[in-house]
Amino acid sequence: MDPTAKIDLRIRAMTTSLGRLEDLPQDYRAALGEAMVGPLWPQMRNALPHHAPVPVTTTRLWTYAQIRPLLLEAGKLTPVEKAERRVLFLADPARGPSSMQVTSTLYLGMQLLLPGEKAPAHKHTPSAARIIVEGQGAYTIVDGEKLPMQEGDIILTPGGCWHDHGHEGQEPVIWLDALDLPLFITLDGSYAVEAELQAPRNRPDSSQVEYRAAGLVPPRRRDQPAPKFPQMRYPWERTEGALRHLALHNGQEAVELDFVNPETGESCLPVMGFTAMMLRPGQTLRPPLRSSSAAFHVVRGSGTASINGQSHHWTTKDTFSAPTFARIELHNPGTEPAFLIRIHDTPLQEKLGYYEERA
Ligand SMILES: [Fe+2]
Repeated sequence: MDPTAKIDLRIRAMTTSLGRLEDLPQDYRAALGEAMVGPLWPQMRNALPHHAPVPVTTTRLWTYAQIRPLLLEAGKLTPVEKAERRVLFLADPARGPSSMQVTSTLYLGMQLLLPGEKAPAHKHTPSAARIIVEGQGAYTIVDGEKLPMQEGDIILTPGGCWHDHGHEGQEPVIWLDALDLPLFITLDGSYAVEAELQAPRNRPDSSQVEYRAAGLVPPRRRDQPAPKFPQMRYPWERTEGALRHLALHNGQEAVELDFVNPETGESCLPVMGFTAMMLRPGQTLRPPLRSSSAAFHVVRGSGTASINGQSHHWTTKDTFSAPTFARIELHNPGTEPAFLIRIHDTPLQEKLGYYEERA
């Protein structure tokens, strides 16, 4: 056979549709089932679709107005001792109401702590971060470091770090938990260890001491390397101030800042990334299509989002999700800036050598 004919055959083989399961004799299919094996070719395109993935995840908006009363009701129905963590998780509609995930890798849940309550210490393989949504006077202790919780703050509890919560204020405190739990479940690697409450060290957390100013870190002796997670708290006041200053000087570019480990410049957690965003009054943002999945939490402001053509009207404390390679448009029609935090799995994808952006 001449080489041109061989190439023609190969091209025809690549472009013809693949064989279907029902093309195979019934007794052969039964024998495959007995042997616990299966033909790849009928499912080949499901596993490896052409050119772009076909995400399971769909987009949804969770309004705080709907979640808050349900969470406060949980406070009446279930004491914290019966819950360990009193959380209502957000479920991706494509996966159903019992699915503990908003995208393939991200878990989100709204947690309630009432005045005087304590949530006992535990540590687990997934990493977590919390964005404080409402209330004053609560704190988290992470490996002995007491972290005050103010609205908009991000508090980290990296995998393997002991953490417990307490509340010395007068009103309910609510925060949004973000965990890489779905990934750890996929890895068959999710577990927790429980303990009693921790005794906090008598000193302010490192965001108020060693890492008080961006660009300044304490010098280290060669035999005293920096801790793996040196900063566990990112006060919102500083984040908003930094966004507002950036907005004054970066033209019409997107106003965004990533939360990073101050010692390494890497993302603040290994799998999940957190990006603070400011939408100027009247601004429309159309980011590139990203291979990472995401959820957006509104710290303050109102606006609209179009995610793959589906419209959401969001306001302060709402949360909405976006699948991989989503076409996203965010708009702030108001006269005040809007502030959001984008939670995403870009750090994981970069570590896999996979992260991709398309126009
Ligand atoms: Fe936890």
